Amino acid sequence: MPSVPGSTRGAVITGWGTALPERVLTNDDLRDTGLDTSDEWIVERTGIRERHIIGFRGAPDVDGSTASLSIAAGRQAIEMAGLEPHQIDAIVLSTTTPDRAVPATSATVQQGLGLRCGAFDINAACSGFTYAMVVAHGLIAMGSERILVIGTDTLSRITDWQDRNTAVLFGDGSGAVVLEAVEGRGQLRGWDLDADGSAEEYLYCETGDVMKMEGKEVFRRAVRIMVDSAEKSMKAAGVTADDIKLVVPHQANARIIKAACDRLGIDMDRAAVVLDRTGNTSSASIPLALADALDAGRVSEGDLVLLVGFGAGMTAASTIIEWGGSS
Ligand code: UT7
Repeated sequence: MPSVPGSTRGAVITGWGTALPERVLTNDDLRDTGLDTSDEWIVERTGIRERHIIGFRGAPDVDGSTASLSIAAGRQAIEMAGLEPHQIDAIVLSTTTPDRAVPATSATVQQGLGLRCGAFDINAACSGFTYAMVVAHGLIAMGSERILVIGTDTLSRITDWQDRNTAVLFGDGSGAVVLEAVEGRGQLRGWDLDADGSAEEYLYCETGDVMKMEGKEVFRRAVRIMVDSAEKSMKAAGVTADDIKLVVPHQANARIIKAACDRLGIDMDRAAVVLDRTGNTSSASIPLALADALDAGRVSEGDLVLLVGFGAGMTAASTIIEWGGSS
């Protein structure tokens, strides 16, 4: 449960961007393919109404890749920050669905954005964006000036479209932020990274195969580890749930978000939710929900924002961010 030393060189978010494939798959579309499911069941049990996907049931990926979505989101974030590409010092890309085993997808993204800088991928499943944020703050503490942090997944490529237990849950997308060094402590007030490899059997995907999941067990553990991680970050930051203006949880299931918020004592009107429109986009879910809340003007200078994710591994990660930073 690390506290951020007062002497640390800080960072703030100065730009953000998102990208979703054009192709939309509704719950009714899924039922129409012959999957034994219904819009009513999916909405009631998960909160998901539709998702964006690049490919479907073996059809070619007509609408992008992990790299192309990352490039689109990253470009927006760099433009919003008012930067030229050459000013970026590193790309940290969280993905669990890289386009190839080697090289890292971040190398393709670097080339696509016309950058010349360090570039590497992180895989911590759905907690990956939050892991990447912590790593990027660490790079800035060690002297980097500007980091592009991206969370992208194309889970449609590793989804078994015949399995109603998983097919209704997942979608594709990307979200990116630019982190820039500032004088003083910056925005990161507390953070926590966790993993429990003994739980890996509940959600996994062998290379070249599709995801396998024990949904009930993942659900049960997800609530517990999200709450644990969020509490550790809040303790590290010296704040309580009452101080949190906005919680940006991993978008896996509306009931998981509600259960975690209830246990933390955070009302749902302080939660960022895009799950109904995106499904579970893994690494992209937290930056997509964060960007949505920022675009809607839900966060002001000085507000505390809790990012909290969980995922296969089973990993969990959280950060407390003070919007705009502090000296
Ligand atoms: O990033 C992390 C990724 N994973 C997760 O976050 C998953 C966490 N788990 C969940 O979100 C939930 O466990 C699910 C949404 C996967 C399942 O919801 P549930 O309320 O735990 O349902 P269940 O597995 O207990 O199934 C209840 C019933 C079963 O039928 P019977 O045995 O009661 O007759 C299932 O066969 O619902 C059936 N069912 C479905 N029915 C219609 C399961 N999936 C579907 C479906 N459509 N898609």
